[in-house]
Amino acid sequence: MKRHIPFYSVALIALLLASVKMEAQNLRLREDNIPEILQALTLEEKASLVVGGGMKSMMAGTLGEKGVLVPGAGGTIRPIERLGIPSVVLSDGPAGVRIEPKRKRDKGKTFFATAFPSGTLLASTWNEEIVTKVGQDLGNEALEYGIDVMLGPGMNLHRNPLNGRNFEYYSEDPVVTGKIAAAMIRGMQSNGVGACAKHYALNSQEACRNGNDARADERTIRELYLKGFEIAVKEAAPWTIMSSYNRVNGVWAQSNHWLLTDILRDEWGFDGIVMSDWTGKRNTAEQVAAGNDLMEPGYKSQKKEIIRKVKSGELSEADLDVCVERILRLIVKTPRFKGYVYSDAPNLEAHAMTARSAAAEGIVLLKNDGSLPLRGVKRIALFGNTGYKTVAGGTGSGNVHAPYVVNISEALAATGFHLDADLENAYQVYLKKKTKKGGFLSQMLGKSLPKEMEIPDALIRPDNADAALFVIGRQAGEGLDRHIEDDFLLTASEKAHLEKVQAAFHAQGKPVIVILNTGGAMETASWDSLCDALVALWQPGEEGASALADILSGAVNPSGKLTMTFPLDYMDIPSSSHFPYDYKGSSSMNTMKKYKDKGRENIDFTEFAEGLNVEYRYFCTSGKPVAYPFGFGLSYTTFSYDSLEASRAEDGTVKVSLRVTNTGDVAGKEVVQVYVNDPAPSFFKPELELKAFAKTSLLAPGASEVLEMSIAPYILASFNESTSAWEIPARMNILAGASSGDIRLTIEL
Ligand code: GLC
Repeated sequence: MKRHIPFYSVALIALLLASVKMEAQNLRLREDNIPEILQALTLEEKASLVVGGGMKSMMAGTLGEKGVLVPGAGGTIRPIERLGIPSVVLSDGPAGVRIEPKRKRDKGKTFFATAFPSGTLLASTWNEEIVTKVGQDLGNEALEYGIDVMLGPGMNLHRNPLNGRNFEYYSEDPVVTGKIAAAMIRGMQSNGVGACAKHYALNSQEACRNGNDARADERTIRELYLKGFEIAVKEAAPWTIMSSYNRVNGVWAQSNHWLLTDILRDEWGFDGIVMSDWTGKRNTAEQVAAGNDLMEPGYKSQKKEIIRKVKSGELSEADLDVCVERILRLIVKTPRFKGYVYSDAPNLEAHAMTARSAAAEGIVLLKNDGSLPLRGVKRIALFGNTGYKTVAGGTGSGNVHAPYVVNISEALAATGFHLDADLENAYQVYLKKKTKKGGFLSQMLGKSLPKEMEIPDALIRPDNADAALFVIGRQAGEGLDRHIEDDFLLTASEKAHLEKVQAAFHAQGKPVIVILNTGGAMETASWDSLCDALVALWQPGEEGASALADILSGAVNPSGKLTMTFPLDYMDIPSSSHFPYDYKGSSSMNTMKKYKDKGRENIDFTEFAEGLNVEYRYFCTSGKPVAYPFGFGLSYTTFSYDSLEASRAEDGTVKVSLRVTNTGDVAGKEVVQVYVNDPAPSFFKPELELKAFAKTSLLAPGASEVLEMSIAPYILASFNESTSAWEIPARMNILAGASSGDIRLTIEL
């Protein structure tokens, strides 16, 4: 019998469908309805959320800006308009916002961003407060330029000084790395924008970075390469983490469940999202399943793979939902979701002052026979290309389009010094000829520095100057590691020039001061006897040269200290032969399927055979001498330490305090490092391990300050591989030092 559905129930169903549709139309993402949104999303939409919007915003300067929210930004998360889900804009980099400085659609306006000092210099301040201030200003520029998440800080360990990206990382020590990164993240995120702790993990070389398999034992991984990220996660809760290009013990970091879920989430309690580094298509389904929530920059083929594999059952939709839910939780935190109306006009002048004061605190005085601060010096002979075209920052994604960069020559003149005009003119003419304009790629991968100008003997004229300033410039960047010849070592011409300048100026009893405008450590022992003072300027940001002039003139007393060792010889470094120091290729030749170095040591895979013996942990244990030790830095004054005390609280936290006194005759700041040593280790431990540090305020001559530090158990503990457990010895020595080679006080805890 034919059953007729009564008219009214048809109407009811139609009404219901309409209301559901209405409801769906009205269903918009809110902070409190994420589960509902998750239910409403189609598989296609879920795949669209976990795969980024592609590189178009990054290429906007070259390909045109149509439909791009922020031209030059590194990437996006795609919007789902139907449910009121906005896009999210991600931008590089660790030293400042990197977006297109000019836009076709905004003819008269510029979009410059402050070039803050690079990571190495920020860490060399050992001053969490000033790093937080830099983070605040950098994060404010992100907010005002419409960025939701900054792709920084870069915080991989300086395993080996030749790693091309060390300039944007912090230190060879995980506690310095973690504390400085946490300070930066707190600063950035105080603006309500996200930070991105990168590159997680063991991304310790640029050669073959997209394919390299970093092979290390679990204890080394946990105590050295993850500890910095652990501190950053536990002390600053970054909104995002970037998984790195490389493999870790054979498993891609981007689909490494042990790293991304077992450790990062289950052990550390990380509750943000993990985004991949800017990789091509790779085992996308495994990435989702491992807890890599977002694939950047994002390719359509990745979306298709996710949809196909959910439908085929190879990828569980539940795993996909976990990633989507985390991404939704990120989106509701972003300024764009909150409808923040950004100005496109951050206060660059104020931020430039922050960049200058941070640079002043991170410049390291390595040698000083008394020539500094310059007294009775009016005329300076300035040698070196980067004295006139100073390197403010590194290249690659860490590049920043600054409104200006103060060159050392300009800063000296602005401070009242008179430069040898003929010398200056020779350099300016030379540099004008040599400096090439570059397009997008040269912006990204950096214009390599022009060859050092040959200095005519006629321009080495001590009678025209009271002092010589000799600048050594180095450029480092993404995609390439540094080399020993002509990089870690002086070039033959630099050495010859320095010898000539030294002979001429010393013949008239005039000082020679060498400035290192570099991204990291160099070999110095073979030539630093030629100079009377040696200053590490690093890549100091747009105002770094002004800070240098403040230090040379004595207006500022240097207080920076090394966060990485300067060895006597590259081959002294424990990882020296387990690093591609002789590789001439670059990172671009190694998407696995086509690269030709398969099976090649230090390229296809790198053995972290040195284990825990990274830099000072090795040098302090072996007693092998170094040029300048980890933690070293001079001041124009001196400090004494006394009253060291240490106690263990109920929860295992170790409290340390000591008093520092300025025993010299000029005001200054002192960085104190606290190391531990296990007098009776039941398994191998390095002789010294840094566990805390603090910096005094500016102490007047004779003034004292009591510094108090605390060491959390998770930082104090060592990982015992035989028990797979973290252990803290009952007895340990607490050592307070001015550097790892200058221990002042020791007590037993
Ligand atoms: C690059 C870098 C990463 C950067 C990203 C976006 O390859 O490894 O640090 O944030 O891609 O530019």
